[in-house]
Amino acid sequence: MTKGGVVLHTESDFEGLREAGRLASETLDMISAHVQAGITTDELDKIIHDYTLSKNAVPATLGYRGYPKSCCISLNHVVCHGIPGDRKLVDGDILNIDVTSILNGWYGDNSRMYVVGAPSVKARRLIDVTYESMMKGIEAAKPGATLGDIGFAIQKWAEDRRFSIVRDFCGHGIGREFHAAPNVLHYGKPGEGMKLEPGMVFTIEPMLNAGKHDVKILDDGWTAVTRDRSLSAQFEHMIGITETGCEIFTLSPAGYTKPPYGA
Ligand code: MF3
Ligand code: CO
Ligand code: CO
Repeated sequence: MTKGGVVLHTESDFEGLREAGRLASETLDMISAHVQAGITTDELDKIIHDYTLSKNAVPATLGYRGYPKSCCISLNHVVCHGIPGDRKLVDGDILNIDVTSILNGWYGDNSRMYVVGAPSVKARRLIDVTYESMMKGIEAAKPGATLGDIGFAIQKWAEDRRFSIVRDFCGHGIGREFHAAPNVLHYGKPGEGMKLEPGMVFTIEPMLNAGKHDVKILDDGWTAVTRDRSLSAQFEHMIGITETGCEIFTLSPAGYTKPPYGA
């Protein structure tokens, strides 16, 4: 069933989404021990690729619209869609790793920030506020609320703390498709936009910049960076609207939320 072009998932669909979400999240738990100075982002990608296949799943990004890798790794001033390569991690780096797994036909999409060594106070603050703003958006996600309520909650938390919200990328419906309706903007006004109903499944994945919100895409056609080269951070959860609120499909089995992990 659909409502306004948005798929309404059943309880048995939720089962499939739960398993796919758990795998993406488990993958991010697994990779945390490898995120250390000296490793290349390509090496991290390879570990994620092999781990995903070992769980009888497929990395959704590999070959997606020509994207060449099994995850996105976005370092420092990279906003999103960073392509793993020969760059070695160094002390003070902050990075987002975004993993999407396809398990039994269901997509699980999850991303987190990681830190290498000791990042600046400003970088840690950006990471904390980005995590908090995602969670504010999730708290606003319940039947009867609107997409605008979610966007507003995220934007207000970020901007009250002097960080900017990226406009050029948004959360998305997900299920048996990677990117589906609705678009979930990370800014907005209370009461505006589509009304939420049980069974709707989408991601909330705000990107916050330490400077201005403007981004540009590099010549590789993927890597989005801040125009002013300020630091950027992102977290992503995949949620399903329930009768009473929402279920987060991508909670960490290890209990990890924001860095440092397992310190
Ligand atoms: N996982 C990303 C998202 O949150 C999408 C990455 S698509 C890629 O929607 F092609 F850039 F990998
Ligand atoms: Co996503
Ligand atoms: Co993602």
